[in-house]
Amino acid sequence: SAVDAAKQSRCPFHTQKTVSSVEATWWPNKLDMKGLPKTQHATANDIASYKEKFLKLDLAAVKSDINGIMTTSQKWWPADYGHYGPFFVRMAWHAAGTYRTFDGRGGSGTGNLRFAPLNSWPDNGNLDKARRLLWPIKKKYGESLSWGDLMILTGNVAIESMGLETFGFAGGRVDIWEPEADVYWGPEKKWLAAERGGLGDKLDQPLGAVQMGLIYVNPEGPGGMPDPLMAAHDIRTTFGRMAMNDEETVALIAGGHTFGKAHGAADPGAHVGPEPEGARIHEQGFGWTSTYKSGVGADAITSGLEGAWTDNPTKWDNGYFDTLFKYEWEQTKSPAGATQWIPTDKEVKSVPDAHLEGVSHAPIMFTTDLALKMDPAYLEVSTRFHQNPEEFAMAFKKAWYKLCHRDLGPVSRCLGSEVPSAQLWQDPVPAFDSSTAIEDADVAELKAACLEKCSVASLVKTAWASASSYRATDHRGGANGARIRLEPQISWKVNDPDDLIAVLASLTEVQNAFNEKGAKKVSMADLIVLAGNGAVEAAAKAAGNDVSVPFTPGRTDASIEETDVESFSVLEPTSDGFRNFLGVSQPNSPQDMGATAEALLVDRAHMLGLSKGEMSVLVGGMRTIGANAGGSTIGVLTSNVGQLSNDFFVNLCDMSTAWKPSAEDEQLFTGTDRDTGAEKWKATRVDLIFGSNSELRAIAEFYASDDCKGKFVDDFVLAWNKVMMNDRFDVK
Ligand code: HEM
Repeated sequence: SAVDAAKQSRCPFHTQKTVSSVEATWWPNKLDMKGLPKTQHATANDIASYKEKFLKLDLAAVKSDINGIMTTSQKWWPADYGHYGPFFVRMAWHAAGTYRTFDGRGGSGTGNLRFAPLNSWPDNGNLDKARRLLWPIKKKYGESLSWGDLMILTGNVAIESMGLETFGFAGGRVDIWEPEADVYWGPEKKWLAAERGGLGDKLDQPLGAVQMGLIYVNPEGPGGMPDPLMAAHDIRTTFGRMAMNDEETVALIAGGHTFGKAHGAADPGAHVGPEPEGARIHEQGFGWTSTYKSGVGADAITSGLEGAWTDNPTKWDNGYFDTLFKYEWEQTKSPAGATQWIPTDKEVKSVPDAHLEGVSHAPIMFTTDLALKMDPAYLEVSTRFHQNPEEFAMAFKKAWYKLCHRDLGPVSRCLGSEVPSAQLWQDPVPAFDSSTAIEDADVAELKAACLEKCSVASLVKTAWASASSYRATDHRGGANGARIRLEPQISWKVNDPDDLIAVLASLTEVQNAFNEKGAKKVSMADLIVLAGNGAVEAAAKAAGNDVSVPFTPGRTDASIEETDVESFSVLEPTSDGFRNFLGVSQPNSPQDMGATAEALLVDRAHMLGLSKGEMSVLVGGMRTIGANAGGSTIGVLTSNVGQLSNDFFVNLCDMSTAWKPSAEDEQLFTGTDRDTGAEKWKATRVDLIFGSNSELRAIAEFYASDDCKGKFVDDFVLAWNKVMMNDRFDVK
């Protein structure tokens, strides 16, 4: 139907195929380097090497260098009020503010602001200059300080130099070297278009902004409509998708706009050139070059809005709320023609000009700023903050730290001398007491005890359920903490809650019996993985292969108090091809918009950091072990269920089977004997994609070959261990 077609055209996985073609319409002259090897992903080596170099930095010295450029105005982009602080705060905010909870993508963690499309988003106007101002710092510290870290650190130094201590800083962002190919930023081909479902909950998942090329919302109001209450609605949705509640949202917007000014000296349409990705070669990466007078300083055009919010825009104070509450506001137009608000009292000229001595202006508010006064829930927070500046300052500091560090993952990934103690949103786990660590003999004893109480398949499923909750995009989830024992994970449908509770009860008995014996202790988090490893070994053995799965103790068990229960719902797998599970789709989710089961499998593989080969070997092995959700036998292409063998690939590649869709259902297929017509197997799209897609079929044929039985098991163990160890930053 037309509705389905419209939905599908907005589906991340449908449109993703055309992301590069969309970009080609934006930047037809962009150099095509697809023929050269890909370098997007940082390897484990890159991460370890960056960690080592960063930790050797003298952070105080770096900060002092950054402070040095803060007030050294450059002719090619003069500092407003002689201070780059506000500009740098906006840069850090825009680096971090693309983070979105639904898929953990976006955020400051990769230095992606340097690349298309982000470097050219209208909302990121002139941030190319901010980064270029920082080049001397980057040049000096080179590989020891990534762009990702430098941008956030600079935001902090800027805030401190304007009079507010920050809550902390953590390094650890490893830069990428080309645009991220996996991030879906929306279906629209036109800048600032909005064809993404609708307002509020109707905004398509996983998007975190309301228009193409914005970080969050339109300052002039939804679709340019100057309605503060409607703007509040958009702000609540988009900041909510950035993991911020009302209090954090008010703190961030008010705190941010305590600094700096907007730039709209004249009509952008008449004066501003192409964005960086589309600019001429001699511009050397700069975009938005303006022909209006000097093009910079007092003549600069960025957003097209114009003016400052407070009387002292380079100082942390209560000026934002003072101004917001002191005046009644009326609509006006900036010199560039954008809608903004000024006090009804025309006498008010309390804001100094950023460049011209002796000139002053009326303060301004955006429609989105007035939302903090007009929306009743925001008003309550704004009033409280206005009356309690200390509370406002603390709320801003904490929200700023969260904004800038959320996608860095748990505190074990946070580097440097300014890292505060773990915050609840960092999904903390208790410290590990190495004096009680279990040893090899204990591991063997525990594995045997678990296998005595539980089936191979149930232990594999439990370990998988625990570890595969990890997502590489923001490093949340994983086996550490054993949050699978807690709500909401324990109730996730994909985890077969009733079976899971029974397995966990048996494992708890094993744990108690062991821990009562002596000084050595095993955590549930470790025991779940260890039991899964033992089950994999048992399944391999049953098929005639002796293997040993590596195990590294050190996981600990989080309590419910250490768990931000609400924030875990976004980690719930609504599909998991590894367990052949396709759940009921939620409204406006990729699945709802027509993402295929196989596209969702690839997305999960991405979240687990798996290659095509690793994804394939895990699906094949999990099937023959019998690890499907709900105990389903669909896709279990073997007569030896419970054994770890290459049967899945052997039978998938067997030409004596013919496949056809079962009735009308494109999700379910039957495989029949070509000669007799007798039904042999059932399978899903996720199973059959390994025979249908040419690249995956090549891998299926590799593993189905007679000489590959041992290699299959070895590769399964490597990929399995990778998933189990994904969140072990403590030993990486
Ligand atoms: C400036 C919009 C939230 C920090 C601006 C500008 C716009 C804008 C249009 C002017 C850019 C220019 O022309 O130079 C918004 C909207 C927000 C929002 C619509 C949310 C509803 C935030 C937050 C922060 C922040 C959360 C930081 C915590 C700043 C700073 C500036 C600025 C420091 C001044 C930059 C300078 O002086 O060069 N904002 N902003 N904003 N924004 Fe925001």
